[in-house]
Amino acid sequence: MYCTLSIPLSCQHKHNIFLTCFTLFHVTADGTQLILVNNCRRSIWPGILGNTGKMTPKDGGFHMRSGDEVVFDVPEKWSGRLWARQNCHFNKTGQGSCDTGDCNGQLKCRGLGGKPPATVVEMTLGSSTSPLHFYDVSLVDGFNVPVSMRPVGGGTGCGVAECDVDLNICCPSALEVKVDGEVVGCKSACLAIQSAKYCCTGKFADPKTCKPTIFAHLFKAICPKAYSYAFDESSSLNRCRATRYVIIFCPPK
Ligand SMILES: *[C@@H]1O[C@H](CO)[C@@H](O)[C@H](O)[C@H]1NC(C)=O
Repeated sequence: MYCTLSIPLSCQHKHNIFLTCFTLFHVTADGTQLILVNNCRRSIWPGILGNTGKMTPKDGGFHMRSGDEVVFDVPEKWSGRLWARQNCHFNKTGQGSCDTGDCNGQLKCRGLGGKPPATVVEMTLGSSTSPLHFYDVSLVDGFNVPVSMRPVGGGTGCGVAECDVDLNICCPSALEVKVDGEVVGCKSACLAIQSAKYCCTGKFADPKTCKPTIFAHLFKAICPKAYSYAFDESSSLNRCRATRYVIIFCPPK
């Protein structure tokens, strides 16, 4: 189950635009439908990684033009992550590189993770017997593109996970990743400094000893609905029972 659809830039602010696509399809009994929307002004190349033992939808990567929408199903109990890659150039065999989120130069990530910094959408889906889905947006690996995940419909606990602000604009210079003078990503303190204290590893691998740093506080202040460091408060984790979720890159504010 899959469709793509180009949305004219002029009507991207109309959220209900994606109804035109996914109502043509119905969700399979036990799976969950993910609807990806590229609301950014430029192309992105989402990367998808199923956790160990889980399938990888759509071979783990594809191109989305500005305004494109892509819909696919994942099976029950699926868990994994997805992220945007920017400024990619691939040749006919799907090999090349991206400025951020690159998975070893492959268009189709097929089991490879993205190179940080990248804003990551994480989820652990339930099943018919254990129906809660868990999802969050994580800045633990830094930031590249604003993103949100929300259920279609709603319900108790069905919050919005998001970092909807362009953190690249307010990234401390020590954490910037630049390409041709343009800030394309903002590293997490762990990534930039690579010490146990900032990464919550070693003797800091405990919520009692690993406290948010000044950088994590900054990320949290700007994006309160995202995980900013390894032991961030669990309020950033959403729990929901919806059958469809919309993931929007560069969500409207
Ligand atoms: C695509 O790029 C890869 C890596 O640079 C190269 O090895 C391969 O030959 C290229 N394929 C084509 C068809 O250009």
